[in-house]
Amino acid sequence: MNATSPSLLAIKGVEHSFGGFQVLRGVSFDVPLGGLVGLIGPNGSGKTTLFNIICGFIHPLAGQVLLDGRALGSSNVVQRSRQGLVRTFQTPRVFEHLTVLENVMTGLYKCSRGGILASMFRLPLARREMLRMKDQALATCDAFGLGGIKHRLAGSLTAGARRNVELARATVSAPRVLLLDEPSSGLSQEEVDQLREQLIRINKSGLAILMVSHDMALMSIVDRAHVLSAGETIACGTMQAIHRDPQVQQVYLGL
Ligand SMILES: Nc1ncnc2c1ncn2[C@@H]1O[C@H](COP(=O)(O)OP(=O)(O)O)[C@@H](O)[C@H]1O
Ligand SMILES: [Mg+2]
Repeated sequence: MNATSPSLLAIKGVEHSFGGFQVLRGVSFDVPLGGLVGLIGPNGSGKTTLFNIICGFIHPLAGQVLLDGRALGSSNVVQRSRQGLVRTFQTPRVFEHLTVLENVMTGLYKCSRGGILASMFRLPLARREMLRMKDQALATCDAFGLGGIKHRLAGSLTAGARRNVELARATVSAPRVLLLDEPSSGLSQEEVDQLREQLIRINKSGLAILMVSHDMALMSIVDRAHVLSAGETIACGTMQAIHRDPQVQQVYLGL
């Protein structure tokens, strides 16, 4: 992704504090259309708080988040996910008592057109909509290698398979930006390698990704990264440039 790619998601001057303790100080950066951007920094540097602000779970004390150049203002998580901003969590969140396929289908309800009344009365529109959603979810299960276990309960799956279910659910609605918070946490090395390939695949399909990760092998796939330390930006650029940055070596890599 080159520097002139148009900005899809922009974070401008974001500030936040909890109980008077400032955790984000004037953070600004962009995720371009189709970009794959990393966000790194030591524990407590404010990465998850920034994610919570981007997805509308909390609102910043100053600054703003823009999608396609429009400020998202006070819109909430559901409204932002309808606009194409979707996140995953550090610990994969799946509905344990639903099957893999049902879990993936839940990623589509927010954009379903049938409506609750229509589905309660089993109106033809709702039935057609349900079939369309099922087809879409089945195709997404196949793309994430979940086709063979689509009828298994999500509660019975390994951490790697749960992560895939979460990614499938997050991407089934064709979002515009995917926010991943520590996607490799709890995964085996083999599962991390598979995750890496999945992320490259979905990014190549046009989906922009903003990813928080401590895993340097996983971070090697990003176009560029943004480094936070104690809520402040200390570096941004390619991972090669970041590795060479003396301040990053001191506060983050501990060199
Ligand atoms: N809900 C909260 N209430 C109070 N302090 C919080 C809350 N969430 C995070 N913090 C504090 O904000 C700082 C940044 O946390 P966080 O955003 O989780 O960092 P990171 O994800 O980079 O580890 C930490 O000092 C953390 O203790
Ligand atoms: Mg965190």
